[in-house]
Amino acid sequence: MSKRIRKAVFPVAGLGTRFLPATKTVPKEMLPIIDRPLIQYAVDEAIEAGCDTLIFVTNRYKHAVADYFDKAYELEQKLERAGKIEQLELVRHVLPHGVRAVFVTQTEALGLGHAVLCAKAIVGDEPFAVLLPDDLIWNRGDGALKQMADAAEKSGASMIAVEDVPRDQTGSYGIVATEAFNGQQGRISAIVEKPDPADAPSTLAVVGRYVLSPTVFDLLESTTPGAGGEIQLTDAIARLLKQEPVDAFRFAGTRFDCGTHIGLIEATIRYALDHEKLSEAARKMIQDALDEVPPAAA
Ligand code: UTP
Repeated sequence: MSKRIRKAVFPVAGLGTRFLPATKTVPKEMLPIIDRPLIQYAVDEAIEAGCDTLIFVTNRYKHAVADYFDKAYELEQKLERAGKIEQLELVRHVLPHGVRAVFVTQTEALGLGHAVLCAKAIVGDEPFAVLLPDDLIWNRGDGALKQMADAAEKSGASMIAVEDVPRDQTGSYGIVATEAFNGQQGRISAIVEKPDPADAPSTLAVVGRYVLSPTVFDLLESTTPGAGGEIQLTDAIARLLKQEPVDAFRFAGTRFDCGTHIGLIEATIRYALDHEKLSEAARKMIQDALDEVPPAAA
């Protein structure tokens, strides 16, 4: 599997229940950090890694995701007439030339594994990436997926992004056991979904970036519902690593779990503090807020 990845799958057909009622009409992936929706950060990361085909697995309520990547004729005309060239460029270039977006429907939210399987016909028989947009990864150097795609090209193995989590949190993640982990990369010998801290084989947790061999599609087809009654990607990966090499990859960068309230707040604060125009005002605002607002009553 030493081919360079060209296709990226974005499973965005989940229900987003943790952000209700907002996600009744606004898909979780369209929640913004400053001025760009989460999906845009993930798309930029995939393009940087060399992907030119972006496959969005959506559902019938998520028109906003498709609309976002479509051409906005009226808006573009208005901005052009008003001479708002900077804004016009922003709207026009959500996707660069040469990159195509493909939309596939997951008719029922049967789980992440099932969502990835929905992209099988478009991906075909080549290695591909999966990005979960609510895991936002910030890095000053190469993006996480580019780091992984480079490593996968060299080693020929499938790659799963991991990061260290405190042991008492293993129950919220897929956890991997590795052989000969060199601090950055190591062959996965086992993967377990949400183990109790006492049973966790390590504290290396899976986060939402994968480079996968197409063999995973065949395995997903025969994967039965697992945890939560959903078809789990982790279960198919557990079978993949018995047939083919699968490596854990500890990326350089900071991950924000924007699928949770506090993660989205943390990402917003960090991006604001790092923003060339907002940094100073954000710093002052945070300081003032800490001085002025007492902790909420329990
Ligand atoms: P989550 O576990 O975060 O679920 O899914 P969710 O529905 O998005 O959010 P909550 O937990 O209800 O708040 C992880 C990823 O898998 C996708 C989601 O869109 C998200 O990117 N997913 C999940 C699907 O595309 N289809 C599914 O059936 C399940």
